[in-house]
Amino acid sequence: MNISIKEKILSTLINAKGEPVSGQKLADELHISRTMIWKHLKSIEEDGYVIEAIKKKGYILQSIPDLVTPEQILPKLNTKQLGRNIDYYTSCTSTQIIAADKARQGASHGTVIISEEQTAGKGRLERSWDSTANKGIWMSVIIRPNISPEFAAQFTLVSAVAINQAIQEVTNLTPQIKWPNDILINGKKVTGILTELQADMDIVHSIIIGIGVNVNQELSAFDESIQNIATSLKMENGEEVDRSLLVAKILYYLEKYGDLYVEKGFEPIKILWESHNCTIGKRIRATMLRETLEGVALGITKDGVLELRLDSGEIRGIYSADIHL
Ligand code: BTN
Repeated sequence: MNISIKEKILSTLINAKGEPVSGQKLADELHISRTMIWKHLKSIEEDGYVIEAIKKKGYILQSIPDLVTPEQILPKLNTKQLGRNIDYYTSCTSTQIIAADKARQGASHGTVIISEEQTAGKGRLERSWDSTANKGIWMSVIIRPNISPEFAAQFTLVSAVAINQAIQEVTNLTPQIKWPNDILINGKKVTGILTELQADMDIVHSIIIGIGVNVNQELSAFDESIQNIATSLKMENGEEVDRSLLVAKILYYLEKYGDLYVEKGFEPIKILWESHNCTIGKRIRATMLRETLEGVALGITKDGVLELRLDSGEIRGIYSADIHL
C-alpha cells in the first residue's frame, strides 16, 4: 500500500480522537521538517477539514468534511486488496468509463475509482444514472478473479449480497434485493449495480463493478421522473450516513463474498441472495430486449438465472431483464 505523507498526517489526527498531536512528533516520525508538516496541514484544511492549533500542545482535528477521499476511507478499511488503490475525483463523467480504461491499462485487482459527482453516470440497459454531488457513493471496482467468462454474471449477485449486507450493518435498515441486483428499501430503489466484463473467450481479464448508492439525498435531489421509484438511505432512516464508512464496508463485504465465491462456488452466495431477496414468489413482469413476459418468479438456478412460471405453465429462464414487481 502506498500512503502519502498527507494521508499519514490525517490518519494520525483522526486516530488521536480529539487529543492534540505535536507538530514536532509528526515531523520526527515522518522524517520531514516542521515547515513541511505545516504545508501538509494547510493542504488538509483546503480539503475542508477544520484543524485547531494549540500553543505548545499541537494540532487537533475539530471536524471532518463528508467526503469519499482515500484519506477518509483508508483508516476505516479492513481489506487485503480491495480499495488499497483508490483513484479519487471531485467530478468526472462516469467512474465506469474511467475504470474500463484503467483496467485495459493493467490496473491491479481491487483498484477503486470513486467520484463525488458524475456528469454522465451510466445505468443498466443504456440508461443514465442520477449522481448528485457529495450525496451518494459513485464508484467502480476493478476485480480480476480467476474464473471463466461464463461465470462472470454471477458476480453481479455477489455484489448485491455484499452491498446489501454493508448497508444493513451501517444503517440498521433492512434492504432487499430485486433480481438480479437492484437494492430496494420499502419498495424503492436505493442502489444500482452495473457489472461490465473485459474478457476473451476463455479468460476473464477484469470485471468492473459499478456501484451507485443513494445515501444522503433529499427527495428534491432526484429528477421528478424517478421521485416515486427512488429513495436514499437518509430518506429512509432520517439520519445522515457516513459515506466513507459505507464505502469501506462495501469493499470489505465485496472482498469477503468475492473470495467465498471463488473458493466455494455460487451455492453459499445463492443462499445469502435468497435470504435477502424480494423477487421470489412474486408475480412479476420481465421486460427483455425482444419480449415481455409475465408470471411467478419461482427462484434462481444454481447459475443465478431467474426462473419464471408463465400463466401457460411453461417455465422460462431469464438471463437479463428489467423486472417490475
Ligand atoms: C442501474 O442501472 O441500476 C445501475 C447503476 C450503476 C450506477 C453506478 S454509479 C458508479 C458507476 N459509474 C457509472 O457511470 N455507473 C455506475
